[in-house]
Amino acid sequence: MPRAEPIRVVVTGAAGQIAYSLLFSIAKGDVFGKDQPIILILLDIPPMLPVLDGVVMELQDCALPLLREVIPTDKVEVGFKDIDAAILVGSMPRKEGMERKDLLKANVAIFKTQGQALDKYAKKTVKVLVVGNPANTNCLIASKSAPSIPKENFSCLTRLDHNRACSQVAMRCGVSSDKVKNVIIWGNHSSTQYPDVHHAKVNVSGSEVSAYDAVKNDAWLRGDFISTVQLRGAAVIKARKLSSAMSAAKAICDHMRDIWFGTKEGEFISMGVYAAGNSYGIPEDLIYSFPIQIKNKTWKVVDGLPINDFSRAKMDATAAELVEERDTAMDFLSQ
Ligand SMILES: NC(=O)c1ccc[n+]([C@@H]2O[C@H](COP(=O)([O-])OP(=O)(O)OC[C@H]3O[C@@H](n4cnc5c(N)ncnc54)[C@H](O)[C@@H]3O)[C@@H](O)[C@H]2O)c1
Repeated sequence: MPRAEPIRVVVTGAAGQIAYSLLFSIAKGDVFGKDQPIILILLDIPPMLPVLDGVVMELQDCALPLLREVIPTDKVEVGFKDIDAAILVGSMPRKEGMERKDLLKANVAIFKTQGQALDKYAKKTVKVLVVGNPANTNCLIASKSAPSIPKENFSCLTRLDHNRACSQVAMRCGVSSDKVKNVIIWGNHSSTQYPDVHHAKVNVSGSEVSAYDAVKNDAWLRGDFISTVQLRGAAVIKARKLSSAMSAAKAICDHMRDIWFGTKEGEFISMGVYAAGNSYGIPEDLIYSFPIQIKNKTWKVVDGLPINDFSRAKMDATAAELVEERDTAMDFLSQ
């Protein structure tokens, strides 16, 4: 029987399609542990409240022992009250004919409000994962709007890109995806991201070799591999007429579970974090995806990996996009 006190976890965009795949995994203990009771708070906008009622009914009907309570709400003061973890999935989607700037403006407004609510109502130890796009910049805005919560408590999702990269290499080598480790997603969760396998290892028939030696096709690794990962989200939308949801939910679980329980010894994963103090020459005031190790709920960037010219150019290009996005967002934030 689970004995721990329940933790409070909010998921925003809880009536949406990612949440529909995500909530079950959280509620059954895949993220915070099999003996950790949970109070799930589902936040969405007022028109979605009837849909949330349906989601609540389904969660109840799953009869999950760890799930102590489900609270649907459209109010941030209810949604963020005393929470231990926040998974911010809800954001303004791009609509037909909408300019990039207008989309950013709408999302700055959402993540400013939610950041302020975190600041006011959440526990100061809350771990905040931003998923809603543009995830890196939304995360930066939320953090800047929550000055009483440590910057290190904020991160954004690039684990889906990381998992995509692992899987592409694994399929190419004919091994299962758990045989591939230490791929890196650098930068923005956008098509400028840089999936890098220069430091990745593949376990082939029991011995660990570099990804380049395992794949034996440098042209593919420097070409189609990178563009496949960069454009995978668009490929899924084209095929499914909906954006990635099952795989996004799985990646969210991987990301948050690693924050809670740490990464495996000798392995690193990718997540978007504050660039302050990084050793890779990335501008400081950005949420940028790095190779990360986590211990005792504290992450650190894996420093000192050698970077060649090919990688340098791609890391700088994605940083430049983030700087531009940040500057536009900061203009909106100050308005
Ligand atoms: N970082 C990543 O790897 C990654 C991967 C996949 C999708 N995404 C992004 O995740 C987001 C959600 O995707 P989805 O497929 O679930 O979308 P969806 O449209 O199915 O659901 C989004 C939900 O968010 C809600 N919402 C909008 N504004 C809100 C607000 N202010 N507060 C609370 N809820 C709000 C909507 O009402 C809707 O129910 C999108 O921005 C998508 O681009 C990110």
